[in-house]
Amino acid sequence: MKYRKCLNKVSPYIPGKSEEEIKRIYNLDKVVKIASNENPYGPTPKIKDISNNLRYEIYPDNYVTELRKNLAKELNVKDNFLLFGNGSVEIIQMISRVLLDKGDNIVTELPSFSSYFSEANIQDAKIKTIKYNEDYNFNLDEMLSLLDEKTKIIYITNPNNPLGTIIDSRKMEDFIKKISNDILVVIDEAYFEFVRDTSYKSSIDLVKKYDNVCVLRTFSKAYGLAALRIGYIVANPLFINELEKVRVPFNVSRISQQCANIALKDKDFMEKSVEKIYSTIDYMYQELDKLKIEYIKTQANFIMMNLRRNSKQCEEEFIKRGYIVRGGFPLMDTWIRVSISTLDDMQGFIEALKEVIK
Ligand SMILES: Cc1ncc(COP(=O)(O)O)c(C=O)c1O
Repeated sequence: MKYRKCLNKVSPYIPGKSEEEIKRIYNLDKVVKIASNENPYGPTPKIKDISNNLRYEIYPDNYVTELRKNLAKELNVKDNFLLFGNGSVEIIQMISRVLLDKGDNIVTELPSFSSYFSEANIQDAKIKTIKYNEDYNFNLDEMLSLLDEKTKIIYITNPNNPLGTIIDSRKMEDFIKKISNDILVVIDEAYFEFVRDTSYKSSIDLVKKYDNVCVLRTFSKAYGLAALRIGYIVANPLFINELEKVRVPFNVSRISQQCANIALKDKDFMEKSVEKIYSTIDYMYQELDKLKIEYIKTQANFIMMNLRRNSKQCEEEFIKRGYIVRGGFPLMDTWIRVSISTLDDMQGFIEALKEVIK
């Protein structure tokens, strides 16, 4: 078989070992997964008995009508500004299919979310990046010098994953004003519900103002629905129409649509779980300060910390102790990203950390 050459640059996604496997190999009673920024409190309990009333034999609503209506109201946008995906990763795939030909390029931050890179590679596009500054934030204006006539997409993750830092809203708009209308600016707000900094502003207002700006969101994080794979984009209807051409029919399951709708209505539950995460983040700051470990103040549900030793080896040391963390980020060889779980889990993590850095 003659496969497309650009696939040489792409590797299959390798999830870490399962919790069951780790328990067996290291003879552990409990394994805590703090590697994928999931919400330990899960979704609102109101979704629990939904499965009894589902029409399993009928395809789901292709237009995601009910959720679309409620979300449009919540976000104060017209309902034709929305499109849903099987996770927001599927929307990154759709955006790449719509815009990227061989030889085109994307511009993004390094480090940032891996799907921007893999989907660009699958389209045989090139990737240009700016690196973080001393304050672990990005100077977006550095992107300007990377743009050329082949640039099709700019991805900005706000808050950034894995750094957890945010871009000032005034700087964001100043930057967008300088971007040609031919380049799509994707602002990925997967973690926006966790932001505590009051100067932060979602970029949804910019979507209404600038036709080439769009925002990605997900129900996987603060709403605790990662298992159901549902995310969405807010974008100009003309661009949504292009995405519709490449969207797989019925891509969001009936159960995902209904659960996301119930979760959206119970915002109170989501906000309470975010509050609990805040207080656990404060606990983590105190403990990391005591241990004199460098870390980046976070506006998301994870913390990057510098253990000053090989992060892949650290991953292994934590796994042996029952904690699955994430290392190996580009430019950050000695840093690990730790998702915020319950206080109990994080107390256990701190004990494991003391052993790992000994
Ligand atoms: C920045 C960012 N964008 C998008 C996603 C994908 O989320 P989803 O579960 O909606 O595919 C993630 C998941 O980790 C993420 O960190």
